[in-house]
Amino acid sequence: MKIKNICCIGAGYVGGPTMAVIAQKCPEINVTVVDINENRIAAWNDQDVENIPIYEPGLSKIVEEAKDRNLFFSTDVDAAIDKADMIFISVNTPTKTYGIGKGMAADLKYIELCARQIARVSTTDKIVVEKSTLPVRTAEALKNILDNTGNGVNFQILSNPEFLAEGTAVDDLLNPDRVLIGGDIDTDKGRDAVQALVDVYSHWVERDNILTTNVWSSELSKLTANAFLAQRVSSINAMSELCEKTGADVNEVAKAVGMDSRIGSKFLKSSVGFGGSCFQKDILNLVYIAKSFGLNEVADYWEQVIIMNDHQKRRFASNIVKTLFNTVSGKKIALLGWAFKKDTNDTRESAAIYVADYLLNEQAEIVVYDPKVKKEQVYADLDYLNSRSEKENRQRVSVVNDPYTCTKDSHAVAVMTEWDEFKELDWKKIYNEMLKPAFLFDGRRLLERDTKEEIGFEFYAIGS
Ligand SMILES: NC(=O)c1ccc[n+]([C@@H]2O[C@H](COP(=O)([O-])OP(=O)(O)OC[C@H]3O[C@@H](n4cnc5c(N)ncnc54)[C@H](O)[C@@H]3O)[C@@H](O)[C@H]2O)c1
Repeated sequence: MKIKNICCIGAGYVGGPTMAVIAQKCPEINVTVVDINENRIAAWNDQDVENIPIYEPGLSKIVEEAKDRNLFFSTDVDAAIDKADMIFISVNTPTKTYGIGKGMAADLKYIELCARQIARVSTTDKIVVEKSTLPVRTAEALKNILDNTGNGVNFQILSNPEFLAEGTAVDDLLNPDRVLIGGDIDTDKGRDAVQALVDVYSHWVERDNILTTNVWSSELSKLTANAFLAQRVSSINAMSELCEKTGADVNEVAKAVGMDSRIGSKFLKSSVGFGGSCFQKDILNLVYIAKSFGLNEVADYWEQVIIMNDHQKRRFASNIVKTLFNTVSGKKIALLGWAFKKDTNDTRESAAIYVADYLLNEQAEIVVYDPKVKKEQVYADLDYLNSRSEKENRQRVSVVNDPYTCTKDSHAVAVMTEWDEFKELDWKKIYNEMLKPAFLFDGRRLLERDTKEEIGFEFYAIGS
């Protein structure tokens, strides 16, 4: 089976970059990315590729190469579904905010809406690919909806979770550690569908790096991978607190531990806590699934990863208050960075949001600078927490376009995102323009202690 037309529902952080790379590497396949968010589609279609809605190093160039050749962005979801042989579902699967499983289970309403739309529109056989991260056995529900509400056409369901990391998405997509494809490998049609997707990826990924499994293993592997990654961060963050009490240094500990080849050095960087749209929601989902099978010890084990992460964010913020003589009321605190990590404009679940909220509750005045995050996003993130009125958020938080305006006249500066440019700032100038004593809190272990203390800063870094 040769795929000629691909449709991807969801033009977000996964759908956009993934489809751009497929289009670039498979010029004979037409790829249409659709979304109900008109502004997002308009931004993808902007004449100037620097204005695409997602910032990822290298992405604009790929979009420029493939757009209007075999890569298209549209709001006409029905038309793209109708034309496609293969449909990727890449919509958001946030944590439920209502009803059963509130605050834990994945909200699958967007997935179900896609399934019903695909069933209604399709008049030819389709391969439906789960690209979104989903609870194990979601494919069963999808199949049920498609088969029972469809027009009698054949649907094959594949699971093809995405392992890209924001900030390095393009590189991760071009050189993936592995591509995982789960399908109904017990039937001919299922195997054909798996092969069709293998053929797409084989345009640029070595066959040995494309794993094929049954659907349930594939679905569960994605949740497991995110749980393991987040667990490493929480593990090293737990040690960071112990380091601060004992005179050990978490970077030295991480290096010593990471050189053990059984452990490995990646993902052992201590910080103010992990953020991003995935880790927390996927672990909560895993916890929920385990609980629903009565596996309480399994659930408690993984939940601790989240508890530790929340603790890390809170203790960073409370340390600022304690260090500033137990009050930040009316004091200006400068936050450098708002994105959840460097090289992305994504702010979902960013530690900066929670630290700012904590400090605002202590009546601080907050000033934010981030090289890629827009002012409206900062306010939207704070408003979403519902901790105070929208008006108050705008009165007490300002967002500026320049790091020196951000830090001028502040009592304390906190590095929240590890943007490279923060290393190169004129820290002497920053010190001179701050109130004294000038406190500097490094939530990312980005800055050198010696040079900052030499300038005169009261310097605090996570884990030392
Ligand atoms: N962001 C990541 O780094 C990452 C990595 C791996 C996997 N994932 C998973 O991929 C999925 C998508 O994540 P994302 O970060 O791209 O989300 P996102 O919110 O950036 O994008 C999802 C898009 O889907 C659109 N959408 C929702 N319902 C729709 C519908 N019925 N029809 C058309 N469009 C619809 C939304 O408007 C939105 O633009 C999630 O399940 C996530 O867990 C994300």
